[in-house]
Amino acid sequence: MTDTNSSETPASPETYVVVGGGQAGAAAVSAMRAAGFTGRIVLVGGEPHLPYERPPLSKEMLVKPETAHPIIHPAAFYEEKAIDCRFGDAAIGLDVDEMRLDLASGEAIVFDKLLLATGARARPYPLLDQLGVGVHTLRTLDDAEGLRGHIWPGRRMLVVGGGVIGLEVAASGIAMGAKVTVIERADRLMARGAPAPMVEALAALHTAHGVRFELGAEIVEATRTSDGEITLVTSDGRRFVGDLVVYGIGVELAVELAVSAGLKVEDGIVVDECGRTSHPAIFAAGDVARQWYPDLGRHLRLETWANAQNQGTGVGRAMVTGAPIDVEVPWYWTDQYGHNFQVAGSTTADEWLRRGAEGAAKYTLLGLTDGVVTGALTVDNGREMRPLRAMIAARRRVADRAALADPKTDLRKLA
Ligand code: FAD
Ligand code: APR
Repeated sequence: MTDTNSSETPASPETYVVVGGGQAGAAAVSAMRAAGFTGRIVLVGGEPHLPYERPPLSKEMLVKPETAHPIIHPAAFYEEKAIDCRFGDAAIGLDVDEMRLDLASGEAIVFDKLLLATGARARPYPLLDQLGVGVHTLRTLDDAEGLRGHIWPGRRMLVVGGGVIGLEVAASGIAMGAKVTVIERADRLMARGAPAPMVEALAALHTAHGVRFELGAEIVEATRTSDGEITLVTSDGRRFVGDLVVYGIGVELAVELAVSAGLKVEDGIVVDECGRTSHPAIFAAGDVARQWYPDLGRHLRLETWANAQNQGTGVGRAMVTGAPIDVEVPWYWTDQYGHNFQVAGSTTADEWLRRGAEGAAKYTLLGLTDGVVTGALTVDNGREMRPLRAMIAARRRVADRAALADPKTDLRKLA
């Protein structure tokens, strides 16, 4: 056990409760202790697992059956930090007048401060869900374990949604020998936002591995025969037959508690630069939070691992010290067919300036807007990400295009 109650400093009589044992929740409890909070911390996680990383679920967890559960901290960590854990129990009620959280198990916890790190769920698709067997989504560890036994060589996989989940599952399906068709409603892949050159590169990569893309495809009919064959029909009459369906059509935010408590919710729980909601003792972090960015002059909600980790850490600390979260340039990665794509900053730009020869396997593209570096994409070149993020944060104006485009120029010097 950590000495949260040393003889010099009496333990705080306060109780901080975190709802959501995901990336943000796990980061927050750790940050609260690191910031010196000596009171009681309760971590309530609806899933019956230790908090784990989600990125491997669509990648190694599918392709390599021997992959261990990607837990964030071992069980001993929570014991050492004196975190009172309630895994496999859900918060079902929030009374802001009495500052009380009610759990499904019947327990009621009175708190001084509360963090909502409830994340998101896979957005349901009732037309597909009614088929029952053979239809999968991918958000949780249980989803990944449920899916991996259904993919094997020759299986016809119909992937609905050409976003991050759809494309990563498609790549994993190909690695496992399946035949994959991706059915996307929009007329481009990654419709939620990715640099155009990245979308092109990903489309080419998938096509080279045998994935078939169907864009502008709205499914209007879904049927399953008694022997398990699934047929999907689109509004323009395209017909796809497969053995299983995996869909990733975006998320639905877990905002029920916030809404029931009357907190301000507008595509996410609205929070200030400390992660504080419209209630002074209630905070939010991670996928579910729409944070105020003073530099941008607007709120922004991000669905990335880095955001959940940084915001969870920042808000956990802010709850103890009152200091604002360290704002970081938005950043995410995706791994497909052994290639690593990383994106930072704005996903749109006037121009994408290439560092490295056309056709080079590893390269970087800098997104330039009005002569300023506003975004970046690295392909198998993640070592350049740190200086690129620094350049974006500093709104670096491009003085010497040739130097920037030359991969021999050390970006750390320009940053
Ligand atoms: P979540 O991870 O959603 O965790 C929230 C937790 O709260 C859940 O466990 C939920 O059960 C729990 N909860 C909700 N309501 C309650 C309640 N009332 N009571 C108790 N518990 C509750 N990002 C990247 O940048 N790169 C990647 O390569 C990448 N790959 C991904 C692959 C997959 C398959 C998925 C699903 C996501 C991926 N992401 C990736 C996104 C990243 O993992 C998420 O942005 C991140 O997990 C969000 O963390 P979070 O803690 O905010 O929310
Ligand atoms: N039919 C086909 N495609 C659809 C439909 C539909 N009915 N509805 C939405 N789509 C497409 C969108 O156009 C988009 O391209 O599904 C894609 C969803 O992409 P994302 O929003 O990236 O969501 P998803 O891939 O499901 O990822 C969910 O997991 O990895 C994380 O960061 C990711 O938070 C995100 C979450």
